[in-house]
Amino acid sequence: MYRTHHCNQLRKADIGTTAMLAGWVHVRRDHGGVIFIDLRDREGLTQVVFRPEENAEVAAQAHHLRSEDVIEVEGRISARLPGTENPKLPTGDIEILPDKLRVLNRADVLPFPLDAEVSNEDLRLSYRYFDLRRPQMTRNLRLRHRVTKATRDFLDEKGFVEIETPILSKSTPEGARDFLVPSRLIKGKFYALPQAPQQYKQLLMVGGIEKYFQIAKCFRDEDLRADRQPEFTQIDIEASFVTPDDIFLLVEGLLAALFRAGRGVEVPTPFPRLTHAQAMDEYGSDKPDRRFAMHLTDLGEIFQASAFKMFRGALDAGGAVKAINAKGFASLTIGQSDELTAMAKHYGAKGLAFIKVENGEWKSPIVKFFSDAEKEALRSKLLVEEGDLILFAADKWDVVCEVLGRLRTRIAEMQKLTAGSDQLDFLWVTDFPLMAFSAEENKWNAVHHPFTRPKAEDIDKLEAQNYREVRAEAYDVVLNGVELGGGSIRIHEPDLQAKIFAALGVSEEDQETLFGHLLRAFRLGAPPHGGIALGLDRIVMLICGEESIREVIAFPKNNRGIDLMSHSPTAVDARQLRDLGISLTGEKPV
Ligand code: AMO
Ligand code: AMP
Repeated sequence: MYRTHHCNQLRKADIGTTAMLAGWVHVRRDHGGVIFIDLRDREGLTQVVFRPEENAEVAAQAHHLRSEDVIEVEGRISARLPGTENPKLPTGDIEILPDKLRVLNRADVLPFPLDAEVSNEDLRLSYRYFDLRRPQMTRNLRLRHRVTKATRDFLDEKGFVEIETPILSKSTPEGARDFLVPSRLIKGKFYALPQAPQQYKQLLMVGGIEKYFQIAKCFRDEDLRADRQPEFTQIDIEASFVTPDDIFLLVEGLLAALFRAGRGVEVPTPFPRLTHAQAMDEYGSDKPDRRFAMHLTDLGEIFQASAFKMFRGALDAGGAVKAINAKGFASLTIGQSDELTAMAKHYGAKGLAFIKVENGEWKSPIVKFFSDAEKEALRSKLLVEEGDLILFAADKWDVVCEVLGRLRTRIAEMQKLTAGSDQLDFLWVTDFPLMAFSAEENKWNAVHHPFTRPKAEDIDKLEAQNYREVRAEAYDVVLNGVELGGGSIRIHEPDLQAKIFAALGVSEEDQETLFGHLLRAFRLGAPPHGGIALGLDRIVMLICGEESIREVIAFPKNNRGIDLMSHSPTAVDARQLRDLGISLTGEKPV
């Protein structure tokens, strides 16, 4: 036996009894021969005091203890001296006076202190097993467990069945690159790690399962960010005979249950809904953060007959003129202003026109072109006041929305508009476009994935090959500007599916080799079905109030896809490659 209690358990009522505790030396202080130790386990801290006058032998032993040594102590629970109680600790009224100390293991020089912020994330990731001892990390992982468990409980209660699908699978087109796994038995052939269990879950619907879910590991070889890892976890859901409203109701209930379990808050349902077109028009984003306003305001009416060529020209060409009002941001720095201009250009704007309202004056390179009526209309439409910064975009409608949407989000970060907010702004974004044209590839691609159902009202536009206008029965759930999940009602008819593949430029031959199993399955009585996948890492990140999903993943990769702790990926020996029939080109990795 190592212990009778954990380190967050003993209270005033236990004084006079004895206890055994085990854990790590969190802090050690030497007060002229009296050694104070905060003993830590995953539950908390207990103070252990070694006094030479009480037990000289044990006190001498304690002299050699260092931070993060693993020890076991046994002793009397005693009241702390009056005035030395620590009201911040649940165990702050008591301390242990040990009769026995057993050193279970020693700790070497520590890579970094555990009780301070460590800004070097690479260092933390290199010693992740050590970093995980920080109470915040332990809390995050335990909270993740509770959220995962609540997911299983909730979906089980609704009749959903958890089914595992293959990891060694066939590539599914979710829009990223696949990670490939070479087959040894069939040389020259590859499995793909699943980007999502999309085809399998649809095939489970053909298999009559009706309600499926899985806490599913997914793998995508894409550019990494704070909320993107090459392997991540989805709460993956699919059901038969469902409408979007059925999915919305289910997911609202699930997310409410998860925030109740993880954060103890009640999330109001149903969530508000915006169509994709509305979201782009008002916020310039398909995952708008609505905790701040700064709406995209359409100025087409004001400038339709303007003498100002830049605006008038965009409108005459069928485009749009819009602006955002960054309240109180006229005081931005030159660096910030340069960054915003560079950002606008990056997203396709030709420039970034602005007005700064300072000392009652409109400081701007463009106001001289505005008539008095235009200025007055601007003032009332954008509610222009002292201290405001107005930013304009004039271009094609989608460029205008995208540019102002990006600026809006970045300015909110610069102004710290959501700092310290505990508001939870849930939102459905519906009616995504089915396809988007890629100028680079000169072809139409699926916005979600090729199994997504076009809206019934838009089928004639599909027939007329007016792809731009075809909306999908697809939806995303968004929280505070983060895309938590996305899904759709699927195509279940082989003919419609083949038609969509054709529109996406998938040849008949590729349809057979890539998706033959799916098309054949659809010919054997596939029920109407649909579903969604929620990013579990992102949900837990937001419940924990973290800014990166790496804080809620035990062993994440860094933003170059490297595991700094085990140093993967690594080279493999020639023999392994030979077995797989693989030879390297010798090109140096970049
Ligand atoms: P989608 O590709 O939108 O849909 O993914 C669903 C959700 O998974 C999360 N996610 C990620 N999280 C961390 N790192 C990543 N690299 C990453 N990529 C995605 C996001 C996202 O909303 N099969 C479809 C779902 C369906 O149609 O049912 C799919 O995978 O939170
Ligand atoms: P320091 O600020 O390092 O000098 O130490 C002060 C801390 O030591 C206090 O917060 C207590 O936790 C601990 N401490 C010092 N003296 C006593 C004592 N007599 N009894 C209990 N704790 C003590």
